[in-house]
Amino acid sequence: MSTYTEDKRKVTTRRLAEMKQRGEKIAMLTAYDFSMARLVDEAGIDVILVGDSASNVMAGNVTTLPMTLDQMIYHAKSVVKGVNRALVVVDMPFGSYQGNSKEALASAIRIMKESHAEAVKMEGGSEIRESIERILSAGIPVMGHLGLTPQSINKFGTYNVRAKEEAEANKLIEDAKMLEEIGCFSLVLEKIPATLATKVAQEVSIPVIGIGAGGGVDGQVLVVHDMLGMTKGFSPRFLRRYADLSTVINEAIGHYVEDVKTSDFPNESEQY
Ligand code: KIV
Repeated sequence: MSTYTEDKRKVTTRRLAEMKQRGEKIAMLTAYDFSMARLVDEAGIDVILVGDSASNVMAGNVTTLPMTLDQMIYHAKSVVKGVNRALVVVDMPFGSYQGNSKEALASAIRIMKESHAEAVKMEGGSEIRESIERILSAGIPVMGHLGLTPQSINKFGTYNVRAKEEAEANKLIEDAKMLEEIGCFSLVLEKIPATLATKVAQEVSIPVIGIGAGGGVDGQVLVVHDMLGMTKGFSPRFLRRYADLSTVINEAIGHYVEDVKTSDFPNESEQY
């Protein structure tokens, strides 16, 4: 466990609020399966997001849109089994909450009931207010997500930085305040100017977690495969790689292939 993770108790939404109050940064990463979730949790992460980025890194899709509710629940169930300390948040997939608020609530209830995760994340602001409110009214914690919202990629047309123009920045600030007011416990801001993200973090009392949103927010999130260097050809400016697992895995597997081909593996002590 990280030496920075002094508090060994289970992370809750309340604890995240306390962290913001005392100025302690929140560390969040994605995970999609039991083994990775266990490693991430044991290393001292505060929040694990079962992101719909599973669509990209697990399923090999180009966008997050194909992800289904059943698939998200499958990933979430696996993650929850590997986690002791972190708060587990699950992305509501595209199409599971935009239709109407009843459908949104039914989707959120399935996630909570079947996966045993502790919160859901939803992309969007005023357009999905009714759905968020209905889910919150059922006692399900909601994390908002504004800025670059990948489920709307077909509307945006690019993965470029969002809210550079004043009108979009103002709408984002309004949406952030609305999410706070209706009771979201936290908010992700993706790929927006650092000055705007800092302003939002200062103006709302709920923890603001950034990805490509600079250092003035209350915490950071990255896709675990990206930060471990398992994904290739994806190098946005905001991504810091903490390992080069592509190379490590490639070399290890190359070594194994060689050992099998040369009959070096298994040796006498590796057999019965
Ligand atoms: O799906 C995901 O991984 C996310 C993060 C990038 C915030 O939504």
